Amino acid sequence: MSPRDEGLAPAGELVLRNVGQLVTMAGQAVPFAVEAHAALWLVGGRVQYAGPESGLPPAAAKSPTVDVGGRLATPGLVDAHTHLLYAGQRAQEVALRARGAGYLEMLQAGGGILATVAATNAASDSEVLDATRRRLSEALRAGTTTLELKTGYALDPAGELRLLGLAERLRDEGPMRLVLTYLGAHALPASHAGQPGRFLEELATTHAAVAGRAQFVDVFLEPGVFGPAEVDPYLADARRHGLAVKVHVDELQDGGGAALAARWGAVSADHCAYTSPAGIAALQAAGTVAVLLPGTAGYLHPEHMAPARQFLEAGVPIAIGSDGNPGSSPTSCLGTLLPWAAAWLHLTPEEVWTAVTRGGARAVGRTDVGQLTPGSWGDVVVWDADDYRVPCYRYGTNLVQAVYVSGRQVAP
Ligand code: NIG
Ligand code: FE
Repeated sequence: MSPRDEGLAPAGELVLRNVGQLVTMAGQAVPFAVEAHAALWLVGGRVQYAGPESGLPPAAAKSPTVDVGGRLATPGLVDAHTHLLYAGQRAQEVALRARGAGYLEMLQAGGGILATVAATNAASDSEVLDATRRRLSEALRAGTTTLELKTGYALDPAGELRLLGLAERLRDEGPMRLVLTYLGAHALPASHAGQPGRFLEELATTHAAVAGRAQFVDVFLEPGVFGPAEVDPYLADARRHGLAVKVHVDELQDGGGAALAARWGAVSADHCAYTSPAGIAALQAAGTVAVLLPGTAGYLHPEHMAPARQFLEAGVPIAIGSDGNPGSSPTSCLGTLLPWAAAWLHLTPEEVWTAVTRGGARAVGRTDVGQLTPGSWGDVVVWDADDYRVPCYRYGTNLVQAVYVSGRQVAP
């Protein structure tokens, strides 16, 4: 727990009663137990009791109480992978893609990520902050209470540090819990065309300033973007500065990224759409979480999804993130992706819930969120549904009725 989390926690108490189904993610996650006729008692922003309403301790009677009308309550969602810190938008890419333009082709022509870099670098601090605040509040309204936020739309050392400073301001504002990742290595800027090694060497000079501010460093490892030759020394430097590692791997083809992520003891390997059985085995051995991003795969290559079942069968923990970004997954709302995660990754509702709560928490290195067990933060979503399978089934509507962070209602 960081001191900032202490700051977010109110002293207030709250009872949610008449919870038709309560998903706590306690114990072994799959298959998980669902409490019927449940109640939740939050004290000092944390879970004091989660279980059958009949077992609610008598002392809870003194706390303010909300009757949730038989609805479903779950842990707040943990979105372990987003790029929501940027200015501008890229709606013009829809028609380009319809005419056959590829993701890397647009990037190599100076569009894609580089177009958002130009827009973000041209925007003032308050423009970037306001645009990002709007996205974070959409995410919160759709049930995300912890969100990993990456830099990566400046692509030069000073600009990436500016974005990190803006991300810290957003984290300190709350109410969402933000986990910060430094993704200066998101693409190769035109100024360094043909010199990825030199670019990452220059970027590594910022690591001393990043340490203690971002929790993770991340790299877009993909044939045509950055490869192992330049990524290995870059990650070695990040590790020397005490930064934990995440890596974008195997998004568009199997580039051997999973094995590299495992070699660096990455907390997570993200995308993994094309990861091979050998890569899956390497992640398992390293205890690395595979963060699967079905929104992105659905947007760019719906014919090919990450082999989610193979990860689970191999014993690799999975998380599901939104990958919210202006190009390959223009959304802020993990909560509205649950039906697609189930359908496209061939996962059961139990597996989807696990991946967007405890799985997400593990992928961002936390054990105090993503579950409603005594001592965890009281981050709760009440859904306009009476059954935990409904949010993995109905699509196109936001089913979130109310969102609480540290026991305080923060949305709507
Ligand atoms: O995870 N792959 C690299 N980064 C993002 C896309 C960012 C963008 O297109 O702006 C991703 O898909
Ligand atoms: Fe990403």
